[in-house]
Amino acid sequence: RLLILDFGSQYSQLIARRVRELGVYCEMRAFDMSDDEIREFNPKGIILSGGPETVTVEGSPRAPELVFTLGVPVLGICYGMQTMAQQLGGEVQSSPVHEFGYAEVTVVPDAAQAANNSADTSRDALFGKLADRVDASGNSVLDVWMSHGDKVVELAPGFRITAATPSCPIAAMADEARDFYGLQFHPEVTHTAQGGALLQRFVHDICQTQSLWTPENIAEDAIARVQAQVGNDQVLLGLSGGVDSSVVAALLHKAIGDQLTCVFVDNGLLRKNEGDQVMAMFAQNMGIKVIRVDAEDEFLNGLAGVSDPEAKRKVIGKTFIDIFDCEATKLATSPEHPVKWLAQGTIYPDVIESAASKTGKAHVIKSHHNVGGLPEHMAMQLVEPLRELFKDEVRKLGVALGLPEDMVYRHPFPGPGLGVRILGEVKKEYADLLREADAIFIEELRRFGWYTKTSQAFVVFLPVKSVGVVGDARRYAWVVSLRAVETIDFMTARWAHLPYDLLEKVSNRIINEISGISRVAYDVSSKPPATIEWE
Ligand code: XMP
Repeated sequence: RLLILDFGSQYSQLIARRVRELGVYCEMRAFDMSDDEIREFNPKGIILSGGPETVTVEGSPRAPELVFTLGVPVLGICYGMQTMAQQLGGEVQSSPVHEFGYAEVTVVPDAAQAANNSADTSRDALFGKLADRVDASGNSVLDVWMSHGDKVVELAPGFRITAATPSCPIAAMADEARDFYGLQFHPEVTHTAQGGALLQRFVHDICQTQSLWTPENIAEDAIARVQAQVGNDQVLLGLSGGVDSSVVAALLHKAIGDQLTCVFVDNGLLRKNEGDQVMAMFAQNMGIKVIRVDAEDEFLNGLAGVSDPEAKRKVIGKTFIDIFDCEATKLATSPEHPVKWLAQGTIYPDVIESAASKTGKAHVIKSHHNVGGLPEHMAMQLVEPLRELFKDEVRKLGVALGLPEDMVYRHPFPGPGLGVRILGEVKKEYADLLREADAIFIEELRRFGWYTKTSQAFVVFLPVKSVGVVGDARRYAWVVSLRAVETIDFMTARWAHLPYDLLEKVSNRIINEISGISRVAYDVSSKPPATIEWE
């Protein structure tokens, strides 16, 4: 397995995803990880990420010295390359001019190799024969994505230049004897055409790892770990019907069978027919114990008069936990033997995001209640078998566990449900209208073949009234907005360019079929600067 030390770049998570896609397990940790933790992690290679800081500023982050004495290959990317150069005796210079965007790097032949073997001059361990083009001198040229201000101006002893651009003469460096490599550009972004191949050479060839991180192995490993963690104890799982908790349900059912009890809370903020579908799928088809709790009143009463988005999330999160606690108490065989474990579908991006917000390096944009909002007094301990997985891995795992593809590849639905899609105060009347509108939108998206082309699509209820005319009558009713985005990781997203025919059809159906809605808008905001949900 590989270790990624994070210096805070917006692309750090992408590095981890790319390495996992190569079938190799890796974890991303903060750059100041302790020596003991690094030794215990026992990586076969280390990647130092990019970061927003400047190496030449005193007190800026450094890699632990152990990284360079452990005897494993190290790849420094951008800031990671600069700190590597500086820590090993080279020099970095800050420049007010930032290079941002495409660049052409030319692989620099190894002079020593050239003297020995004139036919094979541009073959170093990392770049190998990779090339987008070959220049007039026969050197490989690669199109890469650069984003930096500072640059290495003097190599550390033992290093040589392996690639250059006109404005950045040390665009890549290597000390092949120690297996240390530095790239000033970003191989992890898709704009660097050979980036995946470069990472593959580092991960597979240089670090000598194999592709063992497959859904089958992940499942086997997770099942064994859950069995060891909970033994013969009872486990309670909050099942929402979303991808993550569904995969946890399937996994735990395989691992511990009847020791698992799922609680499905109908909070009155679900999509149309969602409750019945979840019960049919899990309780009837899969034979999993599912308790359905109808708690619409509890949630809506708690939300009455609350219009601040974060306050709404807190109310919803707390009500969920109160219900789980209550169900756990009922399930306990006796007061002396309480249910000890609460399972959750926390996934890796949630863990990274909440860790980042704890260290103060990132802003809390929204508190996602399945990580941050658990009360301190909670009696149950957590079982989180997906904690290390990215969404695409969770989906593949779900399919490997036998869940139907159309459920695993469903658009994500947030924990607070329609609660964050009804702007301001939540009322039953609004939720009922929104459910109908949302069902129409999703039905038409599927019919037009756009459901799978969008990553997430839904309707938002706006508590404003607008005048319309139906037949000869004036209508003064509510407004909704359609939202559809395309994204890979939900960290950034582009609004989907849905065909006008589709938008027209959805709008007509919503206004004609739902008497409480008089107008439909389409949201053309991307993330950033907007977020995917409206609250
Ligand atoms: P935003 O709106 O932050 O959404 O761009 C990114 C992704 O996260 C989902 N989301 C949530 N999921 N609890 C959840 O479980 C929440 O409070 C929450 N808020 C947003 C959102 O649907 C999108 O997929």
